[in-house]
Amino acid sequence: MSRNGHLRSTAPTSHEARPLPSLDHPGLSDARLLPDAGFAACWDAVVLPDGDKNRIAQTVAAGFVLRRSIAFERLPLHGVVLLVGPPGAGKTTLARGLADRLAKLISGAGQFAYLEIDAHTLASSSLGRSQQAVQQLFDTTIGEAAAGGPLVVLLDEVETIATDRVQLSFDTNPADVHRAVDAALIGLDRIARTCRDVLFVATSNFPTAIDGALMSRADLVLPVDLPTLQARKDILADTITALAKAFPRARRLLVDDLLDQAAAAAEGLDGRQLRKVIAAAAGRSAVSTVDPGEITLDNLLVAIGEAARGTP
Ligand SMILES: Nc1ncnc2c1ncn2[C@@H]1O[C@H](COP(=O)(O)OP(=O)(O)OP(=O)(O)O)[C@@H](O)[C@H]1O
Ligand SMILES: [Mg+2]
Repeated sequence: MSRNGHLRSTAPTSHEARPLPSLDHPGLSDARLLPDAGFAACWDAVVLPDGDKNRIAQTVAAGFVLRRSIAFERLPLHGVVLLVGPPGAGKTTLARGLADRLAKLISGAGQFAYLEIDAHTLASSSLGRSQQAVQQLFDTTIGEAAAGGPLVVLLDEVETIATDRVQLSFDTNPADVHRAVDAALIGLDRIARTCRDVLFVATSNFPTAIDGALMSRADLVLPVDLPTLQARKDILADTITALAKAFPRARRLLVDDLLDQAAAAAEGLDGRQLRKVIAAAAGRSAVSTVDPGEITLDNLLVAIGEAARGTP
């Protein structure tokens, strides 16, 4: 209520930041406004085969624009993008970066917000009550945020919330798990029909464990695979460039031949492992332990070899 007794509108004015739900909401692990500098860094850091990143961003943005203008009955886009691939391939990083990119590409739609859902907390913290928790998540937490303007929702590791009901046995899984999956799909459908400015980005390592009804609602299923030779080289170069900002001697390692050798040796490593080998390499000598800029190529290759064999 304002001082002169009028009810104050809940819609933010152009000077007011859009309100975000508190992180006390069950299942919600992050809420922020977009664009976001941290997410822009995610977009810059994630390396995909040539041209893929821009194609993905533009396809997602085109879907978003179409959904705003054409009725669901005519163009049944649910606003669901599914990123599938092995662990450490960059799905979550890509999803966060994509949220930032979308907000920048569709800058005329108003202030974007971003919510990240951690389905694990929903499933475990509310055993026996997960259906209710899922319903509340979609109807209240996501629904209210969606009513406030354009929204991107990350459903990380979505198989937790949309487990394939066909594979669930009623003997080992309480009926509540089945009902929770139903609730997630009903919630998703309701938002897809009523809030045309919402994009769900879902990620999964286990596409075969995802309920078929969710798969069929995905407008786009994008494989995010282990990095190619060129991508491995780019990821190593990016990590060493970051290292050199703090430890300038690392600049020595930014040589084409040397990066080619390291990238070839790193076949089979995921993006997460690739970035971590820098720390393992630094720990291999007393000098580079104190100044990681002093990592030698030999130690980098040994660390890569150990990571590739899975031995520390
Ligand atoms: N393709 C890539 N390009 C650049 N960095 C990457 C890539 N893949 C992974 N990384 C780096 O590895 C780390 C882990 O990535 P991320 O969490 O996005 O992977 P994920 O596919 O979501 O893994 P998980 O399935 O285990 O959740 C991040 O620091 C990220 O920057
Ligand atoms: Mg992830």
